[in-house]
Amino acid sequence: MTDPADPPEPSRRIRGVALYDGFLSAAGQARVLEDLRAVAKAAPMFAPETPRGRKMSVRMTSAGKYGWYSDRRGYRYIDRHPSGTPWPPIPDSVLAIWRAVGSTRRDPDCCLVNYYGEGTRMGLHQDRDEADFGWPVVSVSLGDEALFRIGNTTRGGKTESVWLRSGDVIVMGGAARLVYHGIDRIRFGSSALLPDGGRINLTLRVVD
Ligand code: SIN
Ligand code: MN
Repeated sequence: MTDPADPPEPSRRIRGVALYDGFLSAAGQARVLEDLRAVAKAAPMFAPETPRGRKMSVRMTSAGKYGWYSDRRGYRYIDRHPSGTPWPPIPDSVLAIWRAVGSTRRDPDCCLVNYYGEGTRMGLHQDRDEADFGWPVVSVSLGDEALFRIGNTTRGGKTESVWLRSGDVIVMGGAARLVYHGIDRIRFGSSALLPDGGRINLTLRVVD
């Protein structure tokens, strides 16, 4: 359901995942980063626990109607930051990316903000906590390069990996909406975008 009025052609497709290399200019990345600082001020980053009680290595926060959350009670969306304050709105600079490559029919409910410090990774998983898989997942990379692994729509089988760079945007939609994916590693310090290094990933999703 990738249906902006005039959808740009992706630079490439890997297993149905659309990759837009360098979608955000340097100025565009700086603008988004500035807006994310305000998000993190209103909704500070935290390190969630997995349902099995392990601390995740990524730190995260969210903007929008819902934030993605995890603890021993499971993976889910919650309508408030764990501190009890509402999530801040999704910045316009981020909504513009969704409207360009995701959908013009509906805005996302959640912008998950993941921060990857040195040595951080994310295991292969599907994004499946949403009600309607007809809506795409739009994912934005900022800062250090990351090795993104793309598998299949069922667990196991062969995978393909691709390095994501600052400003790259990915769309998982249609037949690729439920593809397994993860981050094997980042090249810490490979980008100068974040003063202290590391990587930010934004994941935009319709939840309800
Ligand atoms: C995720 O799938 O939650 C994050 C993907 C990424 O960091 O690029
Ligand atoms: Mn994911």
